[in-house]
Amino acid sequence: MATKDPARVLITAALPYANGPIHIGHLAGAYLPADLYARYQRLQGRDVAFICGSDEMGVAIMMRSLKEDTTPQEIVDRYHPMIKESFDQFGMSFDYYGRTTSEVHRETSQDFFRTLAKKNAFKLSTDEQLYDPEAEMFLADRFVRGTCPVCGYEEAYGDQCEKCGSSLSPTELIEPRSALTDATPVLRETTHWYLPLGDLQPELEAWIDTREGWKPNVKGQVKSWFTEGLRDRAITRDVAWGVPVPEDVADEAGVDGKGKVIYVWFDAPIGYISATKEWAAQTGAPERWKEYWQQEDTQLVHFIGKDNIVFHCLMFPAMLMEHGKYVLPENVPANEFLNLEGEKLSTSRGWAVWLHEYLEEFPADLLRYALAATLPETKDADFSWTDFQTRVNSELADVLGNFVNRTMTFAHRFFDGQVPPLKQVNEEEQAVLNALEEAPARIAQAYEAYRMREAVFETMQVARLGNKFFNDTEPWHTRKTEPQRAANTIHICLQLCAALGVLLDPVVPDSARKLRSMLHLTDVRSGEPETAPSERGWMEAGSALLQEGHEVGEAVILFSKLEDDRIKKQIDKLNKRAEEAMESAVDEKQKAYEQAKEQIEYDDFVKMDLRVGTVTLAEPVPKADKLLRLEVDLGYEERQVVAGIAEHMEPEEIQGKKVVVVANLKPRKLFGLESQGMVLMSEDRDGALRVITTAGENGAVVR
Ligand code: 2FM
Ligand code: ZN
Repeated sequence: MATKDPARVLITAALPYANGPIHIGHLAGAYLPADLYARYQRLQGRDVAFICGSDEMGVAIMMRSLKEDTTPQEIVDRYHPMIKESFDQFGMSFDYYGRTTSEVHRETSQDFFRTLAKKNAFKLSTDEQLYDPEAEMFLADRFVRGTCPVCGYEEAYGDQCEKCGSSLSPTELIEPRSALTDATPVLRETTHWYLPLGDLQPELEAWIDTREGWKPNVKGQVKSWFTEGLRDRAITRDVAWGVPVPEDVADEAGVDGKGKVIYVWFDAPIGYISATKEWAAQTGAPERWKEYWQQEDTQLVHFIGKDNIVFHCLMFPAMLMEHGKYVLPENVPANEFLNLEGEKLSTSRGWAVWLHEYLEEFPADLLRYALAATLPETKDADFSWTDFQTRVNSELADVLGNFVNRTMTFAHRFFDGQVPPLKQVNEEEQAVLNALEEAPARIAQAYEAYRMREAVFETMQVARLGNKFFNDTEPWHTRKTEPQRAANTIHICLQLCAALGVLLDPVVPDSARKLRSMLHLTDVRSGEPETAPSERGWMEAGSALLQEGHEVGEAVILFSKLEDDRIKKQIDKLNKRAEEAMESAVDEKQKAYEQAKEQIEYDDFVKMDLRVGTVTLAEPVPKADKLLRLEVDLGYEERQVVAGIAEHMEPEEIQGKKVVVVANLKPRKLFGLESQGMVLMSEDRDGALRVITTAGENGAVVR
């Protein structure tokens, strides 16, 4: 269980890569749960710093820029504002949203690196690394793909298998290939800094053992890595985009630091620190970030998706430990994955719901509620548009909206829009008041234990209780037969509505604000009209927030039902997008086929003298990287053929093979050698050449 009443709560949500827009998978994994938690903590009156920002370094960004033939800077300048804006509209209540291309981040990361280097926390190692001979560059982990040695998934990345979650190093991949050129990478020497996780394992294990209240899936994952044994991790890279390795550190180590950058998974979590610094500076107290990061009574919580567990539960804590001045995370409540309409989300296959597009069609609160009610907390969960519709229509509109509306309408029609007096409370009424009193603590318990779904369910239970109470007590009858009973019903229902105005704030902040304003609910502390989230009010929400005689405002509709056609439109859009993605993938392949040639006459064809021959010798041509010199036995004579195939095969791959030779091609000179014919090859769409082999005796005519 989380620390009770920590002095301050530092909440981080994984920094999203600024290489594409946010989709519902991101929201369900890290952002919505983080926001629920931050809003809840603020209502508890706790000192909260909620920090996030764009992850703008690293290979993911570079890959995107290569794909689009532009610069990494252009990519992050495009997506950072877009992500920030959509988060804002979704109601993410970050205290600060930074970016890792900032100057403060560069300094902070370099300082951190320098401090660890000075403490001898790193190891240096010169190793062979995968190098793409076609692209002429070292391949960052993400640029190597291949088969996962653990689960056999064929699309694993060099640093991690997204299927089984294993953290990998690129040389472990089976049949590795370059993601840039598809070439088979070769090994070359380079020097890098390593974080010796292997040495730190005992310390990390001891620390993990002290962590209480962690989700079993998170702790289980971490423990299984301990069982395998942690491996040291390179924390620098030879890539053209990233925070440069500090020159002084490189010089000190006697390493040529040019072109070396800090690994993105080293700098990204430091982004939480640099963003907190920027936030503190903005609030006029530049040193204040230290309270959050360096005072022991801070409760640090990282919200992430499960693919980030290793970095937040092992690597970043190891860095923080080694540094020595920082607090370690209290908890890392990682979520599992969200599927869409029963299938894995896939941005490349067009199978995603993009936040910015969603927001053009519907209010943020509807998605916040629907997602919050089905978060993948303990296992993967599914989002479907019809579930979304049901959540909105049967829960938000029919239960919550209806309860608030009938209560408000009744109060206006029969009690002049005032809170009626509560007198001679009977057992049934008292039971509801008791349930209301207990609700904040019960919901709080769920939030404190990172059981967001349960918290949301328990919150809706307050509205369900209200609806049932309204139905059971039938104020439309009692107002004539027993007016005090009707007064009590409406009094209690109005108190429930007011409580919901506070308790719903984490989940549906816009609607909760509307509700508070409808009720003319004043801030429990300041007494001011309450339109912004209450600073303190969580525990008070269980007591009577409205005085007898308090005047409430006009009823407004909180949630309208979603018609089928609006939902169908979304499903159609999703299917269409997936179809288009599939078609364009097919197009892409077809485009690459060489165009068919014009027709020729038979006479044109027979002009070619094609013969079977055996390649008796194949050898490189000095100073000509692309050529091989072949000797070919045509049976009736020996030929020398100079072929432009050296980049496609080793000499021994063709030597000894029976090939087809164009025997009457006019000889020509290449690098001073006469080429007396041509060997037929096939060329794949990606330019790969393959020898066409044949059978038959040397000199046989091919026709
Ligand atoms: O997986 C991702 O999207 C990463 N950009 C998360 C980084 S979290 C943190 F370390 F900054
Ligand atoms: Zn795997």
